[in-house]
Amino acid sequence: MKTLFGELADGTKVSSWSLENGGTRLKVLDYGGIVQSLEIPDRHGRYANVSLGFDTVEDYVAGSPYFGALIGRYGNRLAKGRFTLDGESHQLPVNDGENSLHGGTDGFDRRVWDVEPFTDGRDAGLRLRLTSADGEMGYPGTLAVRVTYTLTGDGDWRIDYEATTDKPTVVNLTSHVYWNLAGEGSGSVHDHELQIAASRYLPVDAGLIPTGESADVTGTPFDFREAKAVGRDLRVAHEQLLYCKGVDHNYVLDKGRTDRPEHVATLRDPASGRTLRITTTEPGLQFYSGNFLDGTLVGSGGRVYRQGDALCLETQHFPDSPNQPSFPSTVLRPGQTYRTTTVHTFGR
Ligand code: GLA
Repeated sequence: MKTLFGELADGTKVSSWSLENGGTRLKVLDYGGIVQSLEIPDRHGRYANVSLGFDTVEDYVAGSPYFGALIGRYGNRLAKGRFTLDGESHQLPVNDGENSLHGGTDGFDRRVWDVEPFTDGRDAGLRLRLTSADGEMGYPGTLAVRVTYTLTGDGDWRIDYEATTDKPTVVNLTSHVYWNLAGEGSGSVHDHELQIAASRYLPVDAGLIPTGESADVTGTPFDFREAKAVGRDLRVAHEQLLYCKGVDHNYVLDKGRTDRPEHVATLRDPASGRTLRITTTEPGLQFYSGNFLDGTLVGSGGRVYRQGDALCLETQHFPDSPNQPSFPSTVLRPGQTYRTTTVHTFGR
């Protein structure tokens, strides 16, 4: 079902699409492909919206830290907003100190997507389409992007990303949902239990750009191979935690890039019983512990969001890959199709 959500300053209408299938309820905006709300039941069948967001377009435009948004063309940071491809150098607008973050000042999170609903057997979903012009935000090539949000008959939320280009370019698409399985606005997620199937992560410099090395998680606060409380080690005096005010790092997933989605992370709220299991084809996962939420934003439920009130698990290729020869490539060439899939399975 489609309803009017609001209007942008130039009069463009923003619509909200509501879907329900297999016990999961999803509200998606055509603006930014934003998941404005995602409701799932707890062990007693009580629903809560487990995704941080706003209830007006104005709030999203004024200063959303990418709540629920689709991220492109390039998820996470590119050092100094620069990269060289086939001998040609490209300068992007910088929007995070001297670096480019999440596609630049006007990324896919701020574009209005074409949205079409579909049903297919037991599945129900939305097809979102966007064309990004050659040179948009400094990136070469016309990029045709298609993202499919599917709610399966079992209530899983699946995201299929596809893109093609007419010139060599770089692409790294992801989704920036902020999870709080106790319900948005209910407080900190530090008691949630998190498990990540990764033995290595990418240390960063003070500007949060990967140094190029990967580090063993053993004996560090970054070890989530066995499920542990999110907040357990966040106050350990580790230099990498100081740089980011918490965890804001790419995990090098043990499984690597795979043709089929494989399990990489499980998040569980012991109090409500709600769980989220993530499978993906991607080789990386950005675990961001909501460090920059600072008590200045009022969320969709009318409550203030503070540091640690949610966390993000962004499946992706590694940050800054175009400048890091040892990282898996994010180059897309004409004739190739970029294809990745991430599935969110909910339990209680
Ligand atoms: C990503 C980045 C973080 C932060 C958030 C948005 O997760 O890695 O550093 O920019 O997005 O606030």
